[in-house]
Amino acid sequence: MTMPAPARRLRLPRRPQARGALVAVLAAAGGAIAVAQPAFMRNMHTGPVVLPQVDPRAPVEDTIAVDGQQPRDRIESRDLPNPAPDTPAVLAEGEWLYDVYCAMCHGPAGLGDGQIAGHFRRMPNLALPHVQNYTDGWIYSIIGDGGFNMPPFAHSMSVDERWALVRHVKTFTRPDTP
Ligand code: HEC
Repeated sequence: MTMPAPARRLRLPRRPQARGALVAVLAAAGGAIAVAQPAFMRNMHTGPVVLPQVDPRAPVEDTIAVDGQQPRDRIESRDLPNPAPDTPAVLAEGEWLYDVYCAMCHGPAGLGDGQIAGHFRRMPNLALPHVQNYTDGWIYSIIGDGGFNMPPFAHSMSVDERWALVRHVKTFTRPDTP
């Protein structure tokens, strides 16, 4: 068995003046490299810095987080099965979300008579048969993307929350317009 070679060490000059000079030369060289670094040699010293209290840099366009949801248009979403089970707990969550995010426009029972509905040219009655006949995936897609006047909610609610909300929308069955 052979002995491992001794680790090489940087031999510093013994005289203090010479040491000082060497340190000064190394420091100056390091500084010069840091300052005069070409653009292709980005490191954390010269790279773009996000300072505290500054908006984060926007992600590259059309990128999604690795755990993010697949972007789908309405047609692609139409036949998605609703993964939220049709249980009292899910329905209660959907009702709560509806009261927070939707009732001010579509009204507490979905009849299109919310507090600010009068500011819109048309506020759909979600209890009408054509809405109730939409597939769950279709309504899910409307909630996420919004419409011409309806705001999108993909960033306000999680995927699970939006599916739970769809369950609640499907409970509006009184088509009578107020
Ligand atoms: C700011 C008012 C507003 C809010 C809040 C709102 N909507 Fe809407 N919604 C509209 C308008 C207006 C339309 C008609 C399409 C358009 O002009 O965007 C619409 C359309 C719809 C439709 C399609 C109706 C049809 O006849 O095809 C559904 C379903 C719907 N909204 C559900 C919801 C749900 C669920 C929420 C809560 C997350 C919600 N909306 C929040 C204003 C709103």
